[in-house]
Formats: sequence, C-alpha cells, structure tokens
Amino acid sequence: MTGATTWKIRDATGDDGDACAAIYAPYVTDTAVTFELEPPTAEEMAARIAKASATHAWLVLVEADGTVAGYAYGGPFAPRAAYRWACETSVYLGETRTGAGRGRALYVALLDRLAARGYRTVLGGMTLPNPASEALHRSLGFEPTGVHRRIGYKHGAWHDVGWTQRDIGPTDDPPAEPR
Ligand SMILES: CC(C)(COP(=O)(O)OP(=O)(O)OC[C@H]1O[C@@H](n2cnc3c(N)ncnc32)[C@H](O)[C@@H]1OP(=O)(O)O)[C@@H](O)C(=O)NCCC(=O)NCCS
Repeated sequence: MTGATTWKIRDATGDDGDACAAIYAPYVTDTAVTFELEPPTAEEMAARIAKASATHAWLVLVEADGTVAGYAYGGPFAPRAAYRWACETSVYLGETRTGAGRGRALYVALLDRLAARGYRTVLGGMTLPNPASEALHRSLGFEPTGVHRRIGYKHGAWHDVGWTQRDIGPTDDPPAEPR
C-alpha cells in the first residue's frame, strides 16, 4: 500500500448494523464466501456487533465521507473452556472497496485489539478459492492448518474451507484470562 490513506478505523456501534448488513448481504445471496443462506437484518447485525464487542472486537472502516466501507470482527473459535484464548476472525468489504489495503488495515487493527484483550491465537476459515482472503491471511503471517473438503453445500455445489492460524499477544504461561 502506498500513499496516505483517508479512511479511519473505529469500534462499531449498534448504529453500524445497517451498513454492515448491506455490505454482507451480497456475499450471502450471491457467493459461497459465507455459508449463511439468508442475509441478516440490520437489527440482527446490530445484535452481532454488540455480542462480539462485549467479548472480542468489531471494527468498522469509515471513508473520509463517512461511508462505512467494511468491517472485521472476532469471536470465540469454539465454546469449550480450554479454547477461550482462540478467536475466529472475519473481514468483509463493500464490493467496490477491495484491493486497496482496506482489508489489511482492518485486520491489523483487529489483531492488535484482540491481542490487547489477552487472546493468544486467531483462526480464519475461508471458502476456497478466495485469492484475496488467502493472500491477506498469508501476508499477515497466518499459516495454513488444513482444508475441510466438501464441507458446505450452497448454490448447488459442495465447497472446501481452508483454515489458517496465527499467534498473537503475550506468550507467558499460564495465560492470563482474556478481558
Ligand atoms: C478478503 C478481503 C477482506 C481482502 O481485503 P482487500 O482490501 O481486498 O485486500 P488488501 O488490499 O488489503 O490486500 C491484502 C493482501 O492481499 C493481496 N490481495 C488482495 N486482493 C487480491 C487478489 N484478488 N488476488 C491476490 N492477492 C490479493 C494484496 O496484494 C495484499 O498482499 P500484500 O499484503 O502481500 O501486499 C476483501 O477482498 C473482501 O472483502 N473480499 C470479499 C469478502 C471476503 O472474501 N471476505 C473474507 C471471508 S474469509
């Protein structure tokens, strides 16, 4: 990425539910990037923002004109207690905003935030192929950990999901509780 950026990244609020729902909807309806089948409403998205913010983080990228152009969030990787330092992360940009560093900026900010809360590991899963997401994760030091073959059926086809993982945060053991 070169040149000065004009966007800002901030914590999401419930008021961002509408914009985040609008960004996400075409990926739900038109692609297998996500395995959801029905686009969530703005109210549902606001509830997801509140839930993720309480325990992990939900960030939005805002353009100079105030438009929310993308978001990234973390949540628990799995519910069992010993997994509680591991987060699953996701990032979505509006379809016209890709390929200019916004995804990287959002993800870097998200990883910083999760590390500051005491989380130790982040995992990202992606329906394959997804060259942009694969490149983003690789570029930020995520290592591939495996592929779940034919794990989701959407739009008349089976899809593989690749998983990647990266350490963040402190390395002292025993680990302090996430906060
Ligand atoms: C995936 C996504 C968040 C990446 O964000 P982005 O702003 O497009 O990517 P960036 O411009 O920040 O680029 C990040 C890296 O990926 C590379 N990259 C971006 N798009 C690429 C593409 N289509 N093909 C190959 N590499 C690509 C960049 O060169 C950059 O590499 P570098 O850090 O080594 O220079 C964005 O494309 C997106 O929202 N896609 C649709 C939704 C989606 O797939 N979300 C992820 C679900 S798992």
